[in-house]
Amino acid sequence: MIRVNTKDAMKLAGLTPDIPAALEALATLKAGTGRGNDFIGWRTLHDDIMEDLPRIKACAERIREDADVFVVIGVGGSYLGARAALEFLQSPTRNLTEKGPIVLFSGYTLSGEEMEQILKLSEGKKLYLNVISKSGTTLEPALSFRFLRDVIEKTCTPEEARKRIVCTTGIGSGVLYGLAREKGYECFAVPEDVGGRFSVLSAVGLLPLAVAGVDVDALLEGCRAQAKESLCESADNPSLQYAAARQGLYDSGIKIEMLSCSRESHRFFGEWWKQLIGESQGKEHTGIFPNSMVLTADLHSLGQYMQDGERIMFETFLRIGEDSPLRVKAIEGDLDGLNYLEGMSYADVFACAAEGTKAAHEAGGVPCMEIFADKADEEELGRLIFFFEAACAISGYMQGVNPFDQPAVNEYKNRMFELLKKQKGM
Ligand code: PA5
Repeated sequence: MIRVNTKDAMKLAGLTPDIPAALEALATLKAGTGRGNDFIGWRTLHDDIMEDLPRIKACAERIREDADVFVVIGVGGSYLGARAALEFLQSPTRNLTEKGPIVLFSGYTLSGEEMEQILKLSEGKKLYLNVISKSGTTLEPALSFRFLRDVIEKTCTPEEARKRIVCTTGIGSGVLYGLAREKGYECFAVPEDVGGRFSVLSAVGLLPLAVAGVDVDALLEGCRAQAKESLCESADNPSLQYAAARQGLYDSGIKIEMLSCSRESHRFFGEWWKQLIGESQGKEHTGIFPNSMVLTADLHSLGQYMQDGERIMFETFLRIGEDSPLRVKAIEGDLDGLNYLEGMSYADVFACAAEGTKAAHEAGGVPCMEIFADKADEEELGRLIFFFEAACAISGYMQGVNPFDQPAVNEYKNRMFELLKKQKGM
């Protein structure tokens, strides 16, 4: 169950959130009459994917049983969701890959040294690949796929290679789709009306997550439940409240949002969120700049800036409940001076750290919002994903931009291809 607290931030900034404007943005989103309305398939992805789900699960099971190393190749929305979800659900006590293959991610940088490490790690192991690219033309994953495919093709029969390589791509177009057809690789679709950063609950995210042992049914169930709340045209809708508050803060001149997560395993969720917000809202020289950190680790780095640097940020604390049996016991002599914590759990200690941080940052003039989730399991993660997707879309419409395209990303690609002397139309 996702809850938000925007009141303290609004009070500190002296603002009233524009709920009517947020309701209007939501109505536009639901009616499908806003900008980018050909990319709003994510609203019902949790239901639409049910047709493909049995095939996704069967493929994942086959890979899980046979692979030693499973490399997910993709960049941006084609890998961030799966990686964020996998790390979010992992903890020292819950190794999702225990019975399955080692899951690695590749194709999101252009580092030969990183590629060499993956090649080395795969030597003598049963390597499986899931290459993910909606356009099928993105350089980073394409290059990575070429190197890793080569390993499989050199060490396996064509029939075995067909078992080991799975493609997730836009069906019917793109180089990757053509290559997959030519070689006979199994293909999953990235739905036409779903953009990369909104695609984690399609085969893009679900296949890698199922291979890693994630309960994808529970993930979808959480998403489905949250969709009811986050698309509800009511002032109680938590996505709408959050969107209205952050737009109010932005309009008042505060341009940066810091998402403060509460565990190391949630650091990559911050990366997913940064892409969602950055690519959706950074348009027409406007938009909130997203940043993220992890408490309490980054209080010992960025904490100084948050407290006392330029007053250009508001902060959103992502508070996720945790249930650990560890409690501090008193020790004789109290040599480390920690007996004052006797009987407290880590969660108790963290709660004080988080509350203290919020109070300190507020005293330093930072408007602070809070988003609460019950625990770090699949269902709650599905809820969080939809919560933020809906909030992002409502925010984009309130801002007056198309939240579903990313035309500026082509700028770097064009210049890079020019330098690489890539022929036009190739
Ligand atoms: O959100 C988006 O659409 C982008 O971040 C894409 O996911 C990213 O650029 C990768 O594109 P593709 O899947 O076409 O390789």
